[in-house]
Amino acid sequence: MKKLWGGRFEKDTSKLMEDFHSSISFDKKLYHYDIMGSIAHAEMLAKCNIIDLKDSEEIIEALREIEDDIENGQVEFSVSQEDIHMNIESLLIDKIGDTGKKLHTARSRNDQVALDVRLYTRDAVLELKELLKDWLKALIKLAENNLDTIMPGYTHLQRAQPISLAHTVMAHAEMAKRDIQRLDAWMNIYNVMPLGSGALAGTTFPIDRNYTCQKLGFDSACMNSIDGVSDRDYIIDILANASIGMMHLSRFCEELILWSSQEFDFIEIDDEFATGSSMMPQKKNPDAAELVRGKTGRVYGDLMSILTTMKGLPLSYNKDMQEDKEVLFDGIETWEKCLRIMTPMITSMKIKKYNMLEAAKGGYTNATDLADYLVKKGISFRDAHKITGEIVFYCISKNISLDQLNIFEYQEFSQKIEVDVYDFIDVKTCVSNRKSIGGPAIEQVKNNIRNLKSFLK
Ligand code: ARG
Repeated sequence: MKKLWGGRFEKDTSKLMEDFHSSISFDKKLYHYDIMGSIAHAEMLAKCNIIDLKDSEEIIEALREIEDDIENGQVEFSVSQEDIHMNIESLLIDKIGDTGKKLHTARSRNDQVALDVRLYTRDAVLELKELLKDWLKALIKLAENNLDTIMPGYTHLQRAQPISLAHTVMAHAEMAKRDIQRLDAWMNIYNVMPLGSGALAGTTFPIDRNYTCQKLGFDSACMNSIDGVSDRDYIIDILANASIGMMHLSRFCEELILWSSQEFDFIEIDDEFATGSSMMPQKKNPDAAELVRGKTGRVYGDLMSILTTMKGLPLSYNKDMQEDKEVLFDGIETWEKCLRIMTPMITSMKIKKYNMLEAAKGGYTNATDLADYLVKKGISFRDAHKITGEIVFYCISKNISLDQLNIFEYQEFSQKIEVDVYDFIDVKTCVSNRKSIGGPAIEQVKNNIRNLKSFLK
């Protein structure tokens, strides 16, 4: 098939080359944005008297029909037309003949593809923001239902101090908030229009970039045509955001996987989000959480891929940049898919409050509180730490918890200890006493929740 750019060529492209450089198999996803950009461009060409209004109208009507045809599955894209841009342009020419050949005036595929991908990414950012808000709302709800669900908090994956489930869930909510803020930052930086950059050096035609900019809802037109066709920061940035967002989900998944093990037994993932084993009849595996954890590596790969593609490229456009699309689509779609499954998974899981409380009571998670108790009785923290360490050592040797030690035994270690110690080291008191800003006491967690709810408004 004759190429739209075939004038200076004598021979046809080899079949091998056609397959090798064609991107239609993946960039067909951009058809809507390509048509949207072309419509704005055609309107602008007429408004600036670069083409006749009548021609522009005919082009726009045909483009709309092409979009309908694509949506109704009536279009068979062709590899020999390389990419979505040339496929649509050739469909247009098939439909309306010579008039269709006027659309590409004052435009290059380089600014066209930069525009299409930017429009796609902008919509994806909006969609991701909604998904993240749903996720954040689900986290808040889970926290609200578990304000007094006591569990052990961990450092080094060793039981450390008692907290509430709400407190730890709200930690994940804070991460989700920042994930949303990073998307807002993306929008502030990158809602800029590359259309009108031409191949790299603008155009000799009297185009009106402010007009297309406003039509397409951009904050501004890019200020440098070379940058306009060369910049892929906006892809790198969204994939960096996706990587961070996935890392956050993955850490939570790691906890869910641990918590659903028989060793922890803190939660049970609902049947809808777990799977069985083909061999072991007793098994119930937390596959959804494992897959989110697994897909995190894949999204990092998408980010590394585009960073590596871009690092050695001279200005301006280079065909290497065609490699930007598959990783962009993959990173965004993976993040979206993971968010879509995480929300119902945590909403439906069963919380085993009793087991969490029992675990909080074990492992001497209230040892810090015992030391704090001694400090409040007038002992310095370092001495209190030492005495408490000796008490813990003693309890370990007797295989009992701190609250099982009788008052006479306590007083062997320090005369300052009185019977009020038992209330002070009760795990529930340990949580409610931690009233410092951001701490696990119910009023602090409620404050955290209030704060995030107003962020969501
Ligand atoms: N399919 C190409 C891409 O995705 C479109 C731009 C082609 N430009 C060019 N000068 N060959 O990057």
